[in-house]
Amino acid sequence: MGSKSALIHRATLMLLLITWRERIHCNGLTVDPPEDLVILDPGHLGHLEITWNPPANLINMTECPKLYQLEYFNTYKDSWTAIRTPRRSHSAQFDLMKDIRVRVYTLLNGPCTNGTMIKSTSYTELVQKPPSAGVAGTTVKDFVCVFYNMENMECNWKKNPKTPANSQQTLYYWHKELEQAEECPKYIISGGVRSGCNFTGKTLPDFTDINFCINGSSPEGPLKPTFSSLQIQNHVKPGTTEKLQLQTRSDGQLEVEWERPVGRVPGHCLEWEVEHSQEAPGGKIALKILTEQTSLTLPLIHDNERNCLRVRSKLHKYCVDKSFWSEWSHPNCYPEMREVAAEPQWDMVPVYIYIAIAIIAILVLTLCVVAALKVRSSRQEKKPDSLLTTLFARNSVLTVLEV
Ligand SMILES: *[C@@H]1O[C@H](CO)[C@@H](O)[C@H](O)[C@H]1NC(C)=O
Ligand SMILES: *[C@@H]1O[C@H](CO)[C@@H](O)[C@H](O)[C@H]1NC(C)=O
Repeated sequence: MGSKSALIHRATLMLLLITWRERIHCNGLTVDPPEDLVILDPGHLGHLEITWNPPANLINMTECPKLYQLEYFNTYKDSWTAIRTPRRSHSAQFDLMKDIRVRVYTLLNGPCTNGTMIKSTSYTELVQKPPSAGVAGTTVKDFVCVFYNMENMECNWKKNPKTPANSQQTLYYWHKELEQAEECPKYIISGGVRSGCNFTGKTLPDFTDINFCINGSSPEGPLKPTFSSLQIQNHVKPGTTEKLQLQTRSDGQLEVEWERPVGRVPGHCLEWEVEHSQEAPGGKIALKILTEQTSLTLPLIHDNERNCLRVRSKLHKYCVDKSFWSEWSHPNCYPEMREVAAEPQWDMVPVYIYIAIAIIAILVLTLCVVAALKVRSSRQEKKPDSLLTTLFARNSVLTVLEV
């Protein structure tokens, strides 16, 4: 019993100590958290405005500079983001398909706190659940945007298998230069349904969030909206390199040169991957070389080897966070062997020839099987009148052979 009460006594003492220390720290002043915390959605597809008011007992203390500390859960980074601002509102980007969590503290400074900064011990919090409207399981899948050669942006998605038939999907987008969200200028149709959007002729700003919403209607009600946000400079796919030139130098080295794709992609941002495959009688090896130059010198080792090269490019990470690889250029080989060029080019054989071969093969096979079956059954029967069928069957086999 005695030890227990001593323990409680000690705990009380410690609590007092902590409170006393806090009071020293705050000069005896405490401050309340802000009030009237509100999240406003101006229809910018995830760019929300958060507003609040100072605590009622501080409104008249004009001589004290007030600061606010706003914390919100950043669903894109999966962590809390905090900012300090003297203003009473702040705009931030949120994923509208997830919970929105916002907290705000009051901070006080200046003459009324004797020069030290004090912060409200508690915060005002607001948690907003995503709207539950829409037919369940109808959000789109694999939403991918590619900014081709920094000229044309295209976004594609896949329909969720649970999406009801006869649904009509719509894409809306917004960025800070737009007053209101706008609908996709040109849909990409595949299999009779909308599967993407082409922003042909629309210039989208870089280094700023572009917000997307894919929603729509179906006979069973509105589709569940899908939200996405991205910055276009991180979705560039450079154009394909057209001109790749090979040259042998007098010192026996092979010089490879290529040109940057024409367009808006800044040349100093490109890095290249060169694929060098060496075909010698002993076998074939492929080597990949990364470079920031648009030329390369390679040693030619054997006379009887064939060197084939192709290049592709992407934006390196000094310029952007990420990039797509371009398509590979057409390979260029040294020496250009004639025998190889004469190899049957299966890609070039028209499709109808394949189809014709397949049909003939199936016909012949069917006739053979039918004939074989007839021969067999007539042999098993062993009846006098089976002679005729046998003959007939033999005849058809002959016919087939004649064919
Ligand atoms: C402010 O601080 C000074 C020195 O640190 C002290 O003398 C003074 O009493 C304090 N005033 C208040 C209002 O706490
Ligand atoms: C889709 O979203 C846009 C932009 O928020 C809105 O104007 C439109 O009414 C929505 N359509 C449907 C069918 O919910």
